[in-house]
Amino acid sequence: MTQPAGTHKGVIFSGMRPTGLLHLGNYMGALQNWVTLQDDYNCIYCAVDIHALTTVESSEDIQAIKPNIEDMVLDWLAAGVDPEKSIVFIQSHVPEVMTLHTLLSMVTPLGWLTRVPTFKDKVRQMHETEETVNYGLVGYPVLQTADIILYKADTVPVGQDQVPHIELSREIVRRFNNLFGETFPEPQAKLTEARLIVGLDGQNKMSKTLDNHLDLAASPEETTKRVLTAFTDPQRVRRDDPGRPEVCNIYSLHKIFSGASDVNTVYDECVTAARGCVDCKRHVADSINDYLKELRERREEIKSKPGYVQEILHEGGKKARAIAVETINEVYEKMGLS
Ligand code: TRP
Ligand code: SF4
Repeated sequence: MTQPAGTHKGVIFSGMRPTGLLHLGNYMGALQNWVTLQDDYNCIYCAVDIHALTTVESSEDIQAIKPNIEDMVLDWLAAGVDPEKSIVFIQSHVPEVMTLHTLLSMVTPLGWLTRVPTFKDKVRQMHETEETVNYGLVGYPVLQTADIILYKADTVPVGQDQVPHIELSREIVRRFNNLFGETFPEPQAKLTEARLIVGLDGQNKMSKTLDNHLDLAASPEETTKRVLTAFTDPQRVRRDDPGRPEVCNIYSLHKIFSGASDVNTVYDECVTAARGCVDCKRHVADSINDYLKELRERREEIKSKPGYVQEILHEGGKKARAIAVETINEVYEKMGLS
């Protein structure tokens, strides 16, 4: 995109923990947005493998990190994250982030960190207490701040759950700038009106942990098979019971993935029991498979090029590191280090 003279593109930074294959909820909620933002910003997208280490509990967890990065980045590229436009890299390839993390920890009161709701949740989930929890997990948002400001990013596209982290980043930046002089822009969270995708259980947000998800990279057959296990209107017990589309998640999925006239047909045929739930699920699975067709083809194509993803990540790491080194030099100077 050409820019009017005298204007600068903003810098976007966003990261995802490498949890492996992404699902439809990740796509509609975040990834699709990452792709669109590439037209208006200089974007930096990062697989945050050091953050993944804050919650490892077994050697399997550790062994999973590398293949998970590869699976996740393949999904990014298949979705349209374009390494010609954006920097795509692995967090640990730029060790300067750990330097900045340590330095930022000098201006971060402990109370700010233990107050964060995600911290309290994680401690509970991991069956830890504030006494036994890793110091690394306490510092999670400090590392996240380092991620963002190492590249002087001003805009961070995130979901609602991450807003407290970005608020904290702003406070850390304010403190840093006050003490050491104006250095970093205060990053802004950019909430995307992400479409919430409810999972196959019909109750919760689509998530891998709850196993109610549809993987982007699944085959059309696997997708259909999983959709057939989905919950529908619980009051529709027999085939000739009329259904209530407004309480059925299959209907919500039709509204997103099927055409407008199909949606009307689904509604009418559901409330009159003219269609059965099995046919209705096959129908929505077909719509989802059509929607993902191109992404899946691109994924196969990219996957078939040996070493391609590794090469992208290597190049991205070099570009990211060049920026990072400059920032660290400036920070050293400001903080009286040499
Ligand atoms: N904490 C984010 C999450 O759990 C991942 C993340 C790490 C991130 N560093 C980031 C997101 C920097 C935005 C910017 O989803
Ligand atoms: Fe849901 Fe479709 Fe069954 Fe109606 S027919 S309850 S919309 S799955």
